Amino acid sequence: MVLRSLELLVLLFCPHTSLGLANIIMMLRTKATCVNLFIFVNLSGKYSLYILSNNGPNITLFYYFCTSLIYSDMRKGVLVTGGTGYIGSHTVVELLEAGYYVIIVDNLSNSDESVIDGIEAITGIRPDFVKADCRNIETLEKLFEKGRFDSIIHFAAAKAVGESVEKPLEYYHNNILSLINIISLMRRYNVPNLVFSSSCTVYGQPEVLPATEQTPRLEAESPYGNTKRICEDIIRDSVKAYDSISAIALRYFNPIGAHPSALIGELPRGIPNNLLPYVTQTAAGIREVLSIFGDDYNTPDGFCIRDYIDINDLAAAHVAALKRMICGKMKENFEVFNIGTGRGVSTMEIVKTFEKVNGLSLKYRITGRRAGDIEAMWADPSYANEELGWYARKSLYETLRSAWKWQQRLCGVDISDE
Ligand code: NAD
Ligand code: UFG
Repeated sequence: MVLRSLELLVLLFCPHTSLGLANIIMMLRTKATCVNLFIFVNLSGKYSLYILSNNGPNITLFYYFCTSLIYSDMRKGVLVTGGTGYIGSHTVVELLEAGYYVIIVDNLSNSDESVIDGIEAITGIRPDFVKADCRNIETLEKLFEKGRFDSIIHFAAAKAVGESVEKPLEYYHNNILSLINIISLMRRYNVPNLVFSSSCTVYGQPEVLPATEQTPRLEAESPYGNTKRICEDIIRDSVKAYDSISAIALRYFNPIGAHPSALIGELPRGIPNNLLPYVTQTAAGIREVLSIFGDDYNTPDGFCIRDYIDINDLAAAHVAALKRMICGKMKENFEVFNIGTGRGVSTMEIVKTFEKVNGLSLKYRITGRRAGDIEAMWADPSYANEELGWYARKSLYETLRSAWKWQQRLCGVDISDE
């Protein structure tokens, strides 16, 4: 009777994987005489085993045995492709802090290996890193052969919209072949869980805002956008055909900001295309003046509107998605979630808030519209809120502060007192 209630307790607090659960229940059966009472708590993804009473050395042994089981189970791990990139590196931090074992694979085409130092400085853990190209299936296969992960978060892709118009074949080759290789190897090596980086770009300019997951996907405006649409379709067809694979696509809105420690952040190469790195580089004097593209849009202040989401909040959404898969809570084998704040903010509001929170003034000029820009976009994130238990928590103030702090660190400014 006592055993049954303890089993129930363990089940209620749901350890991450069925293997961990089975092992802990077995321990209760065989070592029940050692245990008076214990509680297994899953607190924000972190694991603790509390023993409320004990009967001497046996209980200590029991504690270490259970802890090592939980730990070894977590060490099944996550393969993070593109893990030294902007979103990947912040997600690796969240994964490590939640207790996952992480292996990064990245070809460093748009990132730097020093990012690993930043991750280690924040978490105290150095994730495994393999420099490899996801287009090369033989190299990737060597990682799968070792069988150290049962989940994959696939960030690796080329992402510059303008460049994709000039080099469409490179974009299709990189973004699509990489995904096909990943899914092929997931099948071959029975790796069940995939989280994929998609984008709100698949919605184009919706007729009705905010965009929900049911908002129709429109024809892509660029080869890059088209790769996201095609990749979503490849995943949808693959999970339909192969029972062993489940996938979640996260449609990101506009990620901005940096880790609050300023030890990792966005590392744009060359002249930035995106608003925030251009803003911070202008504030730092690297760029002379920020061009604001268009003030004649049909929006309250005439400027474009986006849903700017803090990078750390976005990273946390990946951990929430992974937990949903691992805990067997998915309603379908392929699910899609909008990851945004639900707030539309105009380009001018970003500029003014950045100036205010950081106590500086930014040189900007208003120019004509940028070709291909959509007028307004923001998310309805309620499906992610309800199903993933995930919320965007950071204020725009905190996010714009972190963006500037990161830029200062890149410029070698001492920010240790801040
Ligand atoms: P990023 O360029 O900073 O990171 C991508 C990483 O993937 C880089 O480190 C790059 O070196 C690596 N990579 C590229 N091709 C590779 C390959 N073939 N093999 C191995 N590594 C490879 O970009 P990010 O902003 O972190 O974006 C991550 C993902 O999120 C991408 O799939 C991107 O399309 C998607 N996304 C980004 C945004 C955004 O605004 N940043 C918005 C929506 C979706
Ligand atoms: N903007 C400026 N000046 C600049 C840069 C941008 O005024 O120097 C404006 C743009 O016109 C737009 C807004 O700032 O109105 C945001 O522009 P970004 O380039 O930062 O972001 P986008 O929404 O255009 O696109 C980004 C990524 C896409 C991705 C999309 C949704 O570049 O790849 O977010 O996630 F698909």
